[in-house]
Amino acid sequence: MTIENNKNERIVSSDEDSEEVAFENNLRPKKLADYIGQNKVKNNLKIFMQAAQKRGEPIEHVLLHGCPGLGKTTLAHIIANEMGGNIKVTTGPTIERAGDLAAILTNLADGDILFIDEMHRLNKVIEEVLYPAMEDFALDIIIGKGPSARTLRLDLPKFTLIGATTRMGMISSPLRDRFGSSYKLDFYENKDIEEIIRRNAKILNTELDDLACSQIAKRARKTPRVANRLLKRVRDFAEVKADGKINDKVAKEALNMLEVDELGLDDVDRKILSTLIEKFSGGPVGLNTLAAATSEEMETIEDIYEPFLIQLGFLNRTPRGRTATKHCYQHLGFTPRPENNLDKNQNSLI
Ligand SMILES: Nc1ncnc2c1ncn2[C@@H]1O[C@H](COP(=O)(O)OP(=O)(O)OP(=O)(O)O)[C@@H](O)[C@H]1O
Ligand SMILES: [Mg+2]
Repeated sequence: MTIENNKNERIVSSDEDSEEVAFENNLRPKKLADYIGQNKVKNNLKIFMQAAQKRGEPIEHVLLHGCPGLGKTTLAHIIANEMGGNIKVTTGPTIERAGDLAAILTNLADGDILFIDEMHRLNKVIEEVLYPAMEDFALDIIIGKGPSARTLRLDLPKFTLIGATTRMGMISSPLRDRFGSSYKLDFYENKDIEEIIRRNAKILNTELDDLACSQIAKRARKTPRVANRLLKRVRDFAEVKADGKINDKVAKEALNMLEVDELGLDDVDRKILSTLIEKFSGGPVGLNTLAAATSEEMETIEDIYEPFLIQLGFLNRTPRGRTATKHCYQHLGFTPRPENNLDKNQNSLI
């Protein structure tokens, strides 16, 4: 099963699907003040932007990292908006040749923002072109071939690069070092997710009571994208099966129908965890074995399912493989392995 298939099927996937883009754009906050949660990041960014504005300069390059759906793209647009620059959006894998990047860079103006999503999928040749562009606002073009080849240096406008990635570990250190600052987006607190749901229900003109809001928030995997998607599905349900208003009962019925449990786990999460427990006695088991046993792709498990399961404290990533925790056994209704066994297992990994 490919990542694409999964995305379309999964109600709680933190990945974006194409139908959802217009809906998301509608709900995307435009100002920093409307960006809910992530206070540390917001405060640092505010100072960073104000200092640049005081100096009358564009802000230094910014790297945003964090799991899918936590708000990296949203934040990039907010920075552009707050700094009053135009934003040009592209992604790592679509810049195939050095010429593509040169064309993008030479079309920018002073103060513009270049947003490169999926920065970890940028190829090495392009990275090399990006270094002088980021450091000296210059583009080195090689003219001719062989001994007569020479380099021509073109000046570029003073732009700001905002890079986003879900895989910080895959960003090479020379590239990382060229960013003035980097920010990690964490999973959201429950109260922040509730606030996002309330704000968006208002934008969608949907009546939503507090209990219903907390029902949806609990299942949103601490991720704004999942919260928005659940809200949308519950709203559809309320319009068809009730009078359009979302109360506790309607929310519960809708969420049960979507088969998302109280913690936001769906059948794929449960399949991964129960396979780990039933077939591999709770691990440790290698990611590739787990992927084969569940018929999922390795990257899908690693990028999409695991981060939240780890955050919940259900799964551990250890040097010898994945292990299920006591909480995981309990949530799925299995009897936990004897405590000392689990402990022995954990200790042996250190
Ligand atoms: N802090 C926030 N406050 C309010 N809404 C938010 C916030 N962060 C994200 N959202 C909402 O969540 C949706 C998804 O966010 P966004 O597209 O920015 O995630 P992303 O980190 O870029 O994900 P990906 O890694 O898949 O590109 C947005 O449409 C936006 O409505
Ligand atoms: Mg994004």
